[in-house]
Amino acid sequence: MPQPRILVVGSANIDLVTQVPRIPKPGETVIGTSFYTVCGGKGANQAVAAARLGAHAYFAGCVGNDAFGALQRQSLGDEGIDLTHLITHPTEATGTAVILVADQGQNSIVVTPSANYGFTPDRVEAMAPLIAQMDAVLVQLEIPFDSVAATLRIARSAGVLGVLDAGPAQRVPEGILELADIVSPNETEAEAMTGVKVASLDDARLAAAKLLEMGGREVVLKLGANGALYANTRESFHVPPFPVDAVDAVAAGDAFTAALAIAWRWGVPNDAIRFANATGALATLTPGAQPSLPKRTAVEAFLRERNALPTRLAE
Ligand code: RIB
Repeated sequence: MPQPRILVVGSANIDLVTQVPRIPKPGETVIGTSFYTVCGGKGANQAVAAARLGAHAYFAGCVGNDAFGALQRQSLGDEGIDLTHLITHPTEATGTAVILVADQGQNSIVVTPSANYGFTPDRVEAMAPLIAQMDAVLVQLEIPFDSVAATLRIARSAGVLGVLDAGPAQRVPEGILELADIVSPNETEAEAMTGVKVASLDDARLAAAKLLEMGGREVVLKLGANGALYANTRESFHVPPFPVDAVDAVAAGDAFTAALAIAWRWGVPNDAIRFANATGALATLTPGAQPSLPKRTAVEAFLRERNALPTRLAE
């Protein structure tokens, strides 16, 4: 199959990460054990993940005219990602994410979007010819909702697969879900959209059913260490996880979404989700967002070792 062309329209942040023994309660101070700064942002992470998985990746978004923006631009460029539509905001700072990672691998994140909100719908309209040339377009919820909707609308009218990674968790305006071909939230994002707390597979089925009622066509619910659930209006099935000793789940969902979009064209949702589960699992083994995103060769080796290589890749 030719190299897939994947456009990600989304956020680019710099992640300020502190390792802590546990996430502090409100009003509590805990002593961190390490601090580092890495490139992140759901959009940029998904573009990097797609590039490392072998796609011809394009990233469209907005950074500030500052050192963090320059760092992101350099880093995305080094991955071979097309940055024609990465703009620099004249006044707003580059987005940041303050991330606490607990020793047990849980995390808590505060995102300040800043320049990311400068990627307005007119910027999306200007990309319509590019969108039409893609195999898939990925969006998340760290840029204006109107820009997310515009991207999905143009992709739909061009017959291009539109994937909505519904993070970070928030209610979405009516009408956005029905513009996406695939809606892929994690448990907390599904709860924010549907009101269903996802603590079991039955809860996940219920939340997925609600997302379909709200306009979704196909739902792939990311369940972290429990794998993923697929649902459309005719069927629903669980794709089991690959158990690993996770050290940091930041960007594992981004790795999953990029892998899903790339593998969807195989036409076998179960295989595509298995590939995505493996990519997400590998992303939990290394600290940090973009440093953790695996290469295609690593994902294939991981699947082969577990006798789980999808037929398409085994050929
Ligand atoms: O999905 C992980 C990402 O969420 C982090 O890199 C952070 O920047 C936030 O956008």
